[in-house]
Amino acid sequence: MAEIIAVSNQKGGVGKTTTAVNLSAAMAILGHKSLLIDMDPQGNATSAAGIDKRIVFPSIYNVLVDLAAIETAVNSTDIPGYSVIGAGNDLVGAESELASAVAKESRLRGAIAAIRDKFDIIFIDCPPSLGVLTLNALNACSRVLIPIQSEYYAMEGVAQLMETINRVKKAWNPSIEIDGILTMYDPRIVLANQVRGELSKFLGQRLFSTLVPRNVRIAEAPSFGKSIFSYDKNSRGAIAYLELAREMAARLGMPSGKNESTAQASQEPMPPAAAKETML
Ligand SMILES: Nc1ncnc2c1ncn2[C@@H]1O[C@H](COP(=O)(O)OP(=O)(O)OP(=O)(O)O)[C@@H](O)[C@H]1O
Ligand SMILES: [Mg+2]
Repeated sequence: MAEIIAVSNQKGGVGKTTTAVNLSAAMAILGHKSLLIDMDPQGNATSAAGIDKRIVFPSIYNVLVDLAAIETAVNSTDIPGYSVIGAGNDLVGAESELASAVAKESRLRGAIAAIRDKFDIIFIDCPPSLGVLTLNALNACSRVLIPIQSEYYAMEGVAQLMETINRVKKAWNPSIEIDGILTMYDPRIVLANQVRGELSKFLGQRLFSTLVPRNVRIAEAPSFGKSIFSYDKNSRGAIAYLELAREMAARLGMPSGKNESTAQASQEPMPPAAAKETML
């Protein structure tokens, strides 16, 4: 039964999508079957996985609003074992279309139940807001991963997110665990170290010891529809995300993936993408 990780922070541009995409890819490289669900109408995770967000169908919108079968929305990627459910701009409408729906906050949870045993880990990329899409993700998840950018005002919004998580815990999902990851880290910047200190006081052991460095290759990869591993497997960014996946797998007590001992960021290129997931 897959762990379900909502990658959330209502602060924009902190590295949610980058972390969700590259962790999903890294988990698959380690041999854990991973699924990335794009819950953001911006569709950035969808594009970063090499899927055209303008034509993706069925998308998570169809699953949430039209109640399309979730397994029909699963796409394969260029990395074996890494699958994606895409989102396009129409997902904006889901907020209002679900407003009067019965159990609107638990649509995603209900849908994921049908495929949870097909994967080892599922990541949900949340939008930078705390609306009904994020509520669906928090309701469906077993853990929340909060990416925090090592810059001024980094902690802004984290308290508000914690409050929302606590509300969701009380109402529907009492066992949510919280993890934190510091992104775009540059040790030469004094402020980055201050944020790191502040955050580790706030989150303690829940802050991953892996740090994701600021790395231009990470920023370039999505424009080629690739994860960092297919774009530049030797980059510092690839090494960091693989290390983060290992640290997370250990924290979650996941059994060793079948590629655990051999996986390196510098592995051979992956075969080209297959058209549609056929394993489900
Ligand atoms: N480690 C990194 N090094 C360099 N650039 C990065 C890194 N992580 C993210 N970026 C860049 O920072 C920008 C914001 O990242 P990303 O889109 O992942 O954030 P987000 O939190 O998902 O944003 P939004 O709130 O809009 O959904 C992007 O241009 C991305 O390429
Ligand atoms: Mg994003």
